[in-house]
Amino acid sequence: MAGAAVVREGRAILWIPDPSEALAGSRLEPAWLPVFYNPVMEFNRDFSVAALEAYIRLYAPHRPVTVVEPLTATGVRSVRYALEVDGVGRVVAGDIDPGAVEVAARNARANGVDDRVEVVRADASALLYRLAREEPEPVLVVDLDPFGSPAPFLDAALAAVGHRGLLAMTATDLAVLEGSKRRAALRRYMARIERVPHAKEVAVRALVGYAARVAAAHDKAVRPLAAYWADHYVRVYLLVERGARRADAMLEECLSHAHWCEPLGHTTFTGCPEPQPPRGLGPLWACETGDEDFLEAVASVAKGKLAGYAATAARVERLASTLRREAPLTRRRFYYELWSLASALRSNVPPRRAVAEKLAGMGWRVVETHYSTTGVRSDAPLQLVRYLVASYRRRR
Ligand SMILES: C[S@@+](CC[C@H](N)C(=O)[O-])C[C@H]1O[C@@H](n2cnc3c(N)ncnc32)[C@H](O)[C@@H]1O
Repeated sequence: MAGAAVVREGRAILWIPDPSEALAGSRLEPAWLPVFYNPVMEFNRDFSVAALEAYIRLYAPHRPVTVVEPLTATGVRSVRYALEVDGVGRVVAGDIDPGAVEVAARNARANGVDDRVEVVRADASALLYRLAREEPEPVLVVDLDPFGSPAPFLDAALAAVGHRGLLAMTATDLAVLEGSKRRAALRRYMARIERVPHAKEVAVRALVGYAARVAAAHDKAVRPLAAYWADHYVRVYLLVERGARRADAMLEECLSHAHWCEPLGHTTFTGCPEPQPPRGLGPLWACETGDEDFLEAVASVAKGKLAGYAATAARVERLASTLRREAPLTRRRFYYELWSLASALRSNVPPRRAVAEKLAGMGWRVVETHYSTTGVRSDAPLQLVRYLVASYRRRR
């Protein structure tokens, strides 16, 4: 291949189009490459490798696992799954772009996994619907890693994923999911989203909430095993289960509107106290956004197996551990954003450690949140956290 570069990522060696053709000054602009490769997403892929291994250990230890990655570009993710994750049988890596298909096939061959990574040129949705119809065994894992939003591919992905399968997806359209583009949010996610201090958590809950409604149309339910915000994207891992009753229960329990209570500086699922008019957001996913056992397994894979070779293993372990601590406190609660509470109270922002120590000292559960360096997650009531913020030090 003319003008190609070789990079090492995880256990894979990859041919990618010459990065010198896509430099904006000294910065690589991945979208300018003839075939997309973003080195910043190595963390996303390291986390994905640990998450897939954790999923297979916990949910599919004795099942033939077929993974479909229908937007594969250089094939890096698919090749890494085949090389690095125990229990992966076959990977179907698709892309609509013939140049990407050529590069991905070359990468599969160069890494000695071309017998297990099948590279196909296809539209992502067409590929997923075909696999849903024709595969003798249901596909267990689908990974959507598109430019921007995964929404256009969700129906096909949820048609394809079998019972107790895994749907992983990335969304980079944060201006939409975080509420800066309200009309696009309504079109794309059928949700009312406006920009609030908890925009990152709203983004995660809006994406999961939309996937839940699409799943329900297939008589399927989803449950987030992990969901996080990082760098410039949101990433979620959903366990998919068949059953109309499960889907009904999920919609009943886990889909809800949230309310931005501006005078309080907080977002809630319970409504704002009178007389403040609540501003509705949603529908959003209101149930837990992570599963403790799964996240413990992700952290343990990162600390064990990945630590020997993956560049961002330590960061994966840290994030998975933070998400594990947050998980049990995510049902029908947003984290407390201390700067937002302080701004509503016209007081200074207290250090989160000071607030956390006070709450813990009173017997409340309290942990740091990955969404913000000035945020805590707690089962303590809003009035108490507001009181602690207000009494930290009043502005003169
Ligand atoms: C963000 S890149 C994928 C990155 C890759 N998953 C990774 O981890 O490096 C998105 C890819 O989707 C492909 N694509 C866009 N629309 C598609 C469609 N409708 N069907 C299949 N592939 C498509 C593009 O050609 C591009 O290679």
